[in-house]
Amino acid sequence: GSIGKDGYRHYMEKELHEHPLVIGQTLQRMVDPASRRVMLPEMPFDLASVPRAVITACGSAFYAGMIGRYWLEDIARLPVDIDVASEMRYRNPPLTAGSLGLLISQSGETADTLAALRSLREKAVHILSVLNVEHSTMARESDVVLGTVAGPEISVASTKAFTAQLTVLACLTIATARARGTLDALGEEELVSALLDLPSRAAEVFTQGAAVRRMAQIVAEARDVLYLGRGSMFPVAMEGALKLKEITYIHAEAYAAGEMKHGPISLIDRTVPIVASAPYTPLFDKTLSNLQEAKARGGRLLVFTDTKGAERVSAIAEDMVVLPHVHDFVAPILQTIPVQMLAYEVAVLKGTDVDQPRNLAKSVTVE
Ligand code: AGP
Repeated sequence: GSIGKDGYRHYMEKELHEHPLVIGQTLQRMVDPASRRVMLPEMPFDLASVPRAVITACGSAFYAGMIGRYWLEDIARLPVDIDVASEMRYRNPPLTAGSLGLLISQSGETADTLAALRSLREKAVHILSVLNVEHSTMARESDVVLGTVAGPEISVASTKAFTAQLTVLACLTIATARARGTLDALGEEELVSALLDLPSRAAEVFTQGAAVRRMAQIVAEARDVLYLGRGSMFPVAMEGALKLKEITYIHAEAYAAGEMKHGPISLIDRTVPIVASAPYTPLFDKTLSNLQEAKARGGRLLVFTDTKGAERVSAIAEDMVVLPHVHDFVAPILQTIPVQMLAYEVAVLKGTDVDQPRNLAKSVTVE
């Protein structure tokens, strides 16, 4: 039967509210809560002996992959290459046999991602796909599938599938790090605990609805919006900018906060709001000083932070959304939720067709 909106105005709003649930369901498949260990399905290859990973995907799934790269490099010390699938399919990266091709897709049917899978396959790499639709073409052509348990996603703009992808990539990182000897049992317990804490922290994000709607009023008036983030918050900024473009038709651009002074800082004035993701992580101070630079040029700062960063952010921001403070590792997962909510609230203000934005298809099955 068809899936209803359960009283929500749009599928996107309903699916946003499913973040806590799908993170929890996805973890249930991959984590043993008693031992606080990650339990992945049997792999037809040994994660310990993979020399490098190549990550490829499109759109939001690509941004999930970018966060996966930070984790795999930092925690598992695995060399990672990443590109959008429409580029990767025509690149010819030199790869040792036994490398890992890591594909990420909600639908499992995206033409470019499928073509990239096939071109990686020719290089005799192991194909591991992170998929939401488990009976998809990509699932059939993969050596192993790690399923995101997000349920059907109807809204063209991806929401819950993205956090579910991040949850799987986090678990894959832990398993890879353990196999490669870069994470001990205590370290694993710490990271798994941070993941298990997420569903309840994610539920708390929805208490910030009023603050998100205040920000939306400002963003809805803009013609251009600049999204900023550093480290694992940079892909969160990219996700925010994509979502805004996709459903509100407002031009948005995401920049690595530290790169801003190499060009886009010249765009800044009162008419270009700056949306920054700046929770209290080791990059907080650096991000804040980039935001100071923007403010000094007349930029209006709208900042997503957390309880530990709030005091310092409030000194410079025009408005902010304060989330619970969580472990650095999982901060990008939590911080994704309010940037998606912001795009949704702006779309509602603008009265656009939220679930079916113009010119877009849910899954892009042509090149
Ligand atoms: C996200 O909001 C977009 N609709 C789009 O970028 C999407 O993530 C991309 O087309 C990839 O789709 P897939 O995950 O089904 O492969």
